[in-house]
Amino acid sequence: MSGPDKPSFKTREVHAGVAPDPVTGAILTPIYQSTTYVQESVDQYLEKGYSYSRSGNPTVTALEARITALEGGAGSLCFATGMAATSCTLMALLDAGDHLVLSDVVYGGTHRVTTKVLNRWGLEASFVDTADAANVEAAIRDNTRLIFTETPANPTLKLTDIAAVSEVARARGIPHVVDNTFLTPYLQRPLELGADITLHSTTKFMEGHNISVGGSITAADPTHLEQIMFVRNCLGSNMSPMVAFYTLQGIKTMSTRLEAQSQNALAIARFLETHPMVERVAYPGLESFPQKELADRQASGHGSMLWFEVKGGVAAGKQLMDTLELWSLAENLGSVESLVTHSVTMTHADMPREERLAAGITDGLVRLSAGLESADDLIADLKQALDGL
Ligand SMILES: Cc1ncc(COP(=O)(O)O)c(C=O)c1O
Repeated sequence: MSGPDKPSFKTREVHAGVAPDPVTGAILTPIYQSTTYVQESVDQYLEKGYSYSRSGNPTVTALEARITALEGGAGSLCFATGMAATSCTLMALLDAGDHLVLSDVVYGGTHRVTTKVLNRWGLEASFVDTADAANVEAAIRDNTRLIFTETPANPTLKLTDIAAVSEVARARGIPHVVDNTFLTPYLQRPLELGADITLHSTTKFMEGHNISVGGSITAADPTHLEQIMFVRNCLGSNMSPMVAFYTLQGIKTMSTRLEAQSQNALAIARFLETHPMVERVAYPGLESFPQKELADRQASGHGSMLWFEVKGGVAAGKQLMDTLELWSLAENLGSVESLVTHSVTMTHADMPREERLAAGITDGLVRLSAGLESADDLIADLKQALDGL
């Protein structure tokens, strides 16, 4: 990328990793929709960097370079989904008989892959409240080989102190992986806070338009990168060039979207705090948020995710979902469209009630992903649905 040595985040978001096509001048990196790459000769094998699109693809490479320019670190890898990024990272860095420590409130898919799949290969997982780094320290065993946190967590928004947990991890030479999906590198950069690997479901804010599913990891240590790349190639969990192309376009407006969506989220949270049918509201930008000090310390903004507890439990939650008009009842998050989910009847329907309550997912919990529509319209829709309860 030409220009000053350290262009600002917003400039890197638009330009990093991509240069006009030398042959045609096309301003966008094309979708290299090709399985394989012709080699000039046997002696020149891999001279141009590509052999087969499971191992590497130029459109995906451009996105990986851009993500590295935003997160920092030695390099990035893109995957078919966020869960592919998580699974490959765990399979690359852990052996049978190893133990890992995870946040007790990690995304359900991360919980599922460790407790229902990787456990069958002899991996042991402990889920602890990583809000306090002392809990992480206490959970470490002789065979602990990885710490995996997610902050803010989905859907509870519980925070982990990234710097404090990274310090515990570093003192023992254990890699700390942070799922940074909810805030993106625009608002939070775990590698700068001492983490070793940062991970995304690019499905969310990076692509941002409900077009594609994808994932990424960025590693500080090139050895981790090589280990994870090896597993990605073995499993065939790579991102497609079409998805990389969509994500390269979506990421250009990531910071601008997040600024506007965060403003909407704050206005919505403030409105919800005043409604008589709302028991409580959680948004890291509210003074009432229990970890507000940590939110302000480790992130430069609060994002577009919030939740509230509606009075009247499961029945009220269901009625609310059915009477909202502008908010879409859908499971994704981080898109320009505003989305709503009722965790108990949707994303966490399979979880036993006691376990769910212990994780902070109450019967009336409604998760909101504030989009880019007018805040007035979004609030008016919530008001008419809440007034009708
Ligand atoms: C925080 C977080 N991490 C990872 C994932 C998994 O990503 P994907 O759905 O792209 O596989 C999700 C999906 O919702 C998520 O919310």
